[in-house]
Order: sequence, then C-alpha cells, then structure tokens
Amino acid sequence: MPLPGIVQALLESDALRAAERGTASARTLPPACYTDPEWFAFEREAIFFREWLCVGRVEQVSQPGDYFTLTIADEPLIVVRGRDDQVRVLSGVCRHRAMILTAPAQVTPEHWTDEPGESSGNTGHAFRCPYHYWTYDLTGQLIGAPDMQRTEGFDKADICLPSLAVEIWNGFIFANFDLEAEPLAPRLAEFDAVSANWNVKGMRATEAATARGLRWNWKVMHENFVDFYHSDRLHARIDAISPSAGLIERDFGDDDAVIIALAHTTDPDFGFNPTFKALFPVIETLTVEERSLTLFGIVPPTFALGFNSDSAFFLIVTPTGPETIDVSVGDLYPESHLEHPLFPELKAMADLGVGFFLNQDFPTNAGVQKGLRSRYAPQGPLSWQENSINHLNRWAINRYRRATGD
Ligand SMILES: [Fe+2]
Repeated sequence: MPLPGIVQALLESDALRAAERGTASARTLPPACYTDPEWFAFEREAIFFREWLCVGRVEQVSQPGDYFTLTIADEPLIVVRGRDDQVRVLSGVCRHRAMILTAPAQVTPEHWTDEPGESSGNTGHAFRCPYHYWTYDLTGQLIGAPDMQRTEGFDKADICLPSLAVEIWNGFIFANFDLEAEPLAPRLAEFDAVSANWNVKGMRATEAATARGLRWNWKVMHENFVDFYHSDRLHARIDAISPSAGLIERDFGDDDAVIIALAHTTDPDFGFNPTFKALFPVIETLTVEERSLTLFGIVPPTFALGFNSDSAFFLIVTPTGPETIDVSVGDLYPESHLEHPLFPELKAMADLGVGFFLNQDFPTNAGVQKGLRSRYAPQGPLSWQENSINHLNRWAINRYRRATGD
C-alpha cells in the first residue's frame, strides 16, 4: 500500500526499532504512534482490517432478529442473529446512498447535528433504511427497494451488505474484515490453557456499560490494563495485596495473538473491590495456586479479559479516532452466582470496586495522552514489571511490518 511520508519514516526509524527490543533494553513506542492521524489511518489497514476484533457477547443477540450496532475505526457494523441462528456481523451502511441503516428517521432540534448513535433491539425479519426504504434480510441480502424498476440493470439479488468473518470464542463474538484470516481459536490456545480452571465457557455476562469519547489512544488503554508497574504506585492504597513485584515474567513470541500478564497476590481469593476479597463464592475448580493469582489477557486490538477468583471482567476497546476510544466494561459470572440471592447487592459492590480503579486509571490515561502530544514526549525505558507493555508494543510492530511486507 502507498504510505504517507510520516508513516514510512516511522517504519524505517531507529525509534520504532528501539521498541522491538526485549524489555530490559527496549523503549516505549514513538509518541507519534499514539497521536498522528496518518499513523492511525495506517493502523486501520495494518491492524483493524486484518485482525480478529471482539465486538460483543452472544447474550446481546440471544434471539433471532436481536441486533446491536457498534463502530470500529470508522466502520459502522451491525451484529445480528439470523433466523438460522447464525450470528453475523454486517456493514451498517446502506448500499444505496450510504445512509446508516439503523439511524433514527427523525430527531429533535438539539440532535440535528449529531452523528447517529449506536442502537440495539429486535429488528424482526429485516433492516429497513429510513431514507428510501431499501430493506435487507438478516443475512444482509437486499429484499426490498421501491421504485427502482426503471433503473437499468438493477436486480435486488445482486445487492448484499458486506459481511465479516465471525468466530465465537467462549461467548465472545469476534469479527474479521479479512475473510481469509487464519482462524482465531488456535491462536488463543495458550490463553485457554492458562485460564482453563476459570471455565470461561460456562460463564454468563451481565450487561456491559459503555463509556464513550474517552480521550486517549487505544494502545494507551491496553497498556494500562496489563501494566503491573503502577499497581502499588498509582493504586498504592487499594492494591497493596496485588503488588507490582508479584509479576510472573513471561516470554512473548512474534506469532502470539494474546498478551498474558500473571501475578502473585499476597493473599488468596483476591478480588478487585473495596474488601480486596472475592465477594462471591470462589470458583471451585481453581487450584490453591490459582486462588492467589491475578490473570490478565489482551487479544489486541479490541479485547481484554481479567480474572478474579470468583468472576471475570472484560473490556471491548473501539477507537473512534487516533486519540479517542469507546470502552465497554462487563462482568462474567458462573451461572450459579447469577442465582445467588444477594447477587444484585454483591454485583453493586464489585462495580464500586472496579470504579475505584477506573477513577485512578482513566485520568492517568488522559494525562499520558496529553503528554504524548508534547514536543518533549519521551520514548522512555521500561521496568521489568512492564514486560507486558513490551509484548503489546512488539505485537503491534509485528503487524505494522507484516502489512508493509517487511
Ligand atoms: Fe490501574
């Protein structure tokens, strides 16, 4: 692909090569990788249109006709369950005049200049564009287009919404713009192995909460998620029993599709909540050692999954530009926990606990992003406790180089 000058220069730079070394001698990514619009346009091609993207959970589309929309890197998407029970991920752009299919037909004056937001619900048997009533079935096939009989060569049968490759992993819906992409599941085998005793497959998700318009780059979000160096610094008071020095160092290979960060806690049955203890019964299948671990995994570029000894939690990170993201945060519980008589109360406490961390992590991410725009933005060295950041940076550089044939 033809590349803008700044992208070509960065790809050939010693600055980028400095981020490819092992943690002990590596530097962070060049600041422009987090701020530059042309670099982000390159990442759309090199990463977002080639990699498996987590878009949501199967619980969000449990019945035929159930759908939700999301936008990833400027691509409007519809996730829908068909009459044949298949989950599909379709382009949400009408094939006629590019209207967003699920946009509202009318709004009040204060919303005249808004872009259409995301929506969800049950669409019945079809999606009908509000503009000219072009209508598509749940597979994306055009089934209705009024007053097109005088249009030369027009045949509804020729017109279909583009669809993405789809794979379901433990109830998470992944999609890929690249229909020739290697299957996802084999690439997650290592993650499956390390998290096997949590039995993610048997867990159910509660409704995710989405924070929109967060003002930092998608990589800043993920780096914060797997950074253990800040655990007993930024989170000093509240994370004392999951200390930074508890990190279990791991290797990372160029073909790895998941960044895994594991650490020892000082006490068993740790939970990210105000009591620091698991609130629900501990998952019975965990070993004694696993009950004293924190485990985080990132399947870049959109998905992150973390484990407590009684539950799990996930992030879906979708960029809306070089310096902005939306993030959905949700929980996973064993089915028996959902039937716990005090489930709503315990879940509220768990959410409060997550809030403690986000109240410190989110403004820090915003601060880092502001710093990255500075002419003095550093390419700093890393602590051994930031091993996973080096892995994430190498994952990204590997994709940058693959996309340009290096
Ligand atoms: Fe944090």
